[in-house]
Amino acid sequence: MAIEIREVLVKDVYDAACRRTHDYRPGDVIPISRARALAWHRNPHAQSNDVSLVLAYVDGECVGYRGMFPAHWRKHGCARRMYWYSTYFVRPDQRRGGVGSALLRHTFDMGTDIGLIGSSAEAQAVYRKLGFFEMPAIQGLMLDITRLNYQSLPLRALRKLASKRGLQSRWLDRSIQLGVNTNRQLVLRAILAQLPDVAHRDGPLPDDYEALQDVVAPTRFDRDRTTIAWASQVPWVTTDPSFDTPGYYFRDLRERFGYHTIRTGDAGACANIWSFTRDGLSDVHLLDTYAARFEDTVGILRAVFDHALRWGADRIYLPIHLAPTLYGSSIARALFKSCERSFFMWLGAPEAESIRGDIAALSVSYADGDFTFA
Ligand SMILES: CC(C)(COP(=O)(O)OP(=O)(O)OC[C@H]1O[C@@H](n2cnc3c(N)ncnc32)[C@H](O)[C@@H]1OP(=O)(O)O)[C@@H](O)C(=O)NCCC(=O)NCCS
Repeated sequence: MAIEIREVLVKDVYDAACRRTHDYRPGDVIPISRARALAWHRNPHAQSNDVSLVLAYVDGECVGYRGMFPAHWRKHGCARRMYWYSTYFVRPDQRRGGVGSALLRHTFDMGTDIGLIGSSAEAQAVYRKLGFFEMPAIQGLMLDITRLNYQSLPLRALRKLASKRGLQSRWLDRSIQLGVNTNRQLVLRAILAQLPDVAHRDGPLPDDYEALQDVVAPTRFDRDRTTIAWASQVPWVTTDPSFDTPGYYFRDLRERFGYHTIRTGDAGACANIWSFTRDGLSDVHLLDTYAARFEDTVGILRAVFDHALRWGADRIYLPIHLAPTLYGSSIARALFKSCERSFFMWLGAPEAESIRGDIAALSVSYADGDFTFA
């Protein structure tokens, strides 16, 4: 089987997405949604000749793709170019034939560092086989409020039974949702009552945001104010169904999407909160936090819980380093569970060995990679 590899550059990616979705025939593999292509086209870290997509063709048909977007990682103020891997797909009938590996090998020839956070088990098998550095998994904390909904267990059992018989009941759905809403109020207000009362407010990131990050995390993946503005203004997801892309394996559709920056205290402490609703489930993620003092960290946590109440969150995700502050609440300590995301790196030639130590020292956030945007 001859595999032909082609590239789509940043400058062409949006037009290519529009053309492909316009000419779509059922069964075609579409390598990117229009929403994602538009965001990548506007990536402030990208140069127009950077690569957005690597495509694999067999017998003239597109059978797989690797999406990637340019970024930087920093070491004590010096930026080093890299790519984040994003989407990765091979048509089921072509799997285990070397297509996925051929796509990745092509990206190695670019000689750039590559990072990848969070992936499927089969993709991880490919990364291991090709010799990526497997970094320690990134730890987080998660509260799933829907799982606390014990009082609606009989109703959920009834709904399951009904759906097996092809029946749907709005009354059941509403009653179950009412239980989730009540629990959300009870649990989050109880946690808030156990944390010190520290004020916080919505507000823009401070002017010295990058300098703050340099102190807290000198070696890190770069998510500066430009990147955050990009993520909030051109999300890769769309809340407009007409923008959905047929034939695209990944779902870039959300019912709601929001990005909030918050401030607390008088020492520049700030944080980013990212929220979205998909398939009726609402998630709130705390991304970056910059807080030197204990009370500022408390203020950030309070902002997250207040936001989760307003947003109607079903699940809340926090970075692991907040555990000591969060556990000031015994209820939070009992209810939050740990969660993790895989992390792989490929170091571009030629000085890969010399920067291995820097990579090991990288401050990595649960939200790095395309997760911040997707
Ligand atoms: C991940 C994916 C792109 C791999 O594509 P592929 O063309 O099958 O990959 P390759 O044939 O090059 O596999 C290379 C090696 O990876 C390993 N591997 C790949 N798929 C595997 C699987 N399902 N289970 C175990 N090992 C696997 C094997 O070692 C394989 O070599 P071998 O076949 O000689 O044993 C493909 O499985 C896919 O599209 N999956 C669904 C989408 C997805 O999960 N994308 C990632 C989202 S984060």
